[in-house]
Amino acid sequence: MSDTYLNLVNSGLTKKIAKQFGLPRPARLRRTDPKSIDAPLVTGPVVVLGTGADADTLATTLLDWELDVRRTMRGGRVGALVLMLTELTAPEDAAEVVDQAGPLMKALGPSGRVVVLTRAATEQDSPARAAALAGVEGLWRSVAKEVRYGATANAVVLRDGVGVDAPAALGAVRFLLSARSAFVSGQGLQVSSDAGTLPADWTKPLAGKVAVVTGAARGIGAQIARVLHREGAQVVGVDVPAAGESLASVMNEVGGTAIQADITDETTPARLIERVRERYGRLDVLVHNAGITRDKLLANMTPDRWRSVVAVNLRAQAQMNEALLATPDLSPDGLRIISLASTSGIAGNRGQSNYAFTKAGVIGMTRSLAPLLAEHSGTANAVAPGFIETEMTARIPALQRQVARRLNSLQQGGKPVDVAEAVSFLASPQSAGINGQTLRVCGQHLMGA
Ligand code: NAI
Repeated sequence: MSDTYLNLVNSGLTKKIAKQFGLPRPARLRRTDPKSIDAPLVTGPVVVLGTGADADTLATTLLDWELDVRRTMRGGRVGALVLMLTELTAPEDAAEVVDQAGPLMKALGPSGRVVVLTRAATEQDSPARAAALAGVEGLWRSVAKEVRYGATANAVVLRDGVGVDAPAALGAVRFLLSARSAFVSGQGLQVSSDAGTLPADWTKPLAGKVAVVTGAARGIGAQIARVLHREGAQVVGVDVPAAGESLASVMNEVGGTAIQADITDETTPARLIERVRERYGRLDVLVHNAGITRDKLLANMTPDRWRSVVAVNLRAQAQMNEALLATPDLSPDGLRIISLASTSGIAGNRGQSNYAFTKAGVIGMTRSLAPLLAEHSGTANAVAPGFIETEMTARIPALQRQVARRLNSLQQGGKPVDVAEAVSFLASPQSAGINGQTLRVCGQHLMGA
């Protein structure tokens, strides 16, 4: 679905008019191609600000990635700013990095990146350190609201004892620097352990892995299938028989296997496990993407609308998870479960009490699954999209849709590929140290931001 307003304010005469009248001008974001990766990781120099061992380690890694790394810069356009704030002991310690970052903000190019590295506070921290670390969160969330021309600002938050060179920390930095995180802004990604390995080939981190994607016939699910395939995975797509034709077409495109099944059917988990075992002998990634909306105010809610949404969005996921937890031999390297939540589940949304119940439920279920999966080297994480341009959101009345699109710091809707990139990042071997988290792909949506 195209965003006419965004196209108008970015071309010809209408661009000039929009500029003259000070109208909001959402930028065209630098995005990935779900079918191929040939774009540079960052467009322009990456300036790593801060001193200390962590800053040196990260700068060295970025050099290994063949980026143009600087520790200071005067003049010229900046591709990304990395603010090293992991070693703060008191609020005043942040000032030096902030002093250096300020003048460089204006030099940040289109779709530029600000990535903050920081630590989660612990109960043992002094009040001064706790204040400093909490302050950093206020900093990156505000910067995300200040950057322009499609730039984003996010943080990698390391738990106590986790090194800046942990695979998940480096994986998160790489994801947040790249175009893969085009619609992720104002977020803090928690890295809770040193688990995981860096991929031998960054372009194929999922080589040799098998992934199941539910609701893969269209929209976000179809893009998830394409991106996982691009990253090297073999993909099994599941969708209802009524969507059989489009499912077959997506699976043909990615050389995958199509399974027509209603995920609410009690026999589906066993059937799916049997087919995957027979065909591939293993299952590494499960993406719970299938979901439905049946919007009504609670005052007008019908028993069927409530129950059908709970059945698809929550109960079906739970029964599949239970079956897979009982068959750990199918996932020798640990199972990665990634569930689609929603910003409606975080902030609530008028007319969506049933949907928000299920999407908040997905976030809770993910948190509780995380330690259970960790016992077998697996992880459970959720991705919460904000407004994404799909057939689901195309059904929203035109005026309401125009407003809904602009309610985030990037002033536009996300694309299915943006969500797919976040899912694939969490499915990758380098993300093993990220567990129980909900990553929002919402352009820093105002709802619950
Ligand atoms: P969509 O409606 O375009 O696609 C959903 C797919 O799931 C369809 O192919 C459908 O046939 C399949 N499906 C539905 N019920 C099923 C069942 N019982 N068994 C098997 N397959 C079933 O939806 P879209 O927009 O691609 O959303 C995908 C996920 O992302 C959903 O979980 C949705 O709640 C979530 N999401 C979407 C947002 C958006 O703005 N589009 C925002 C936030 C979350």
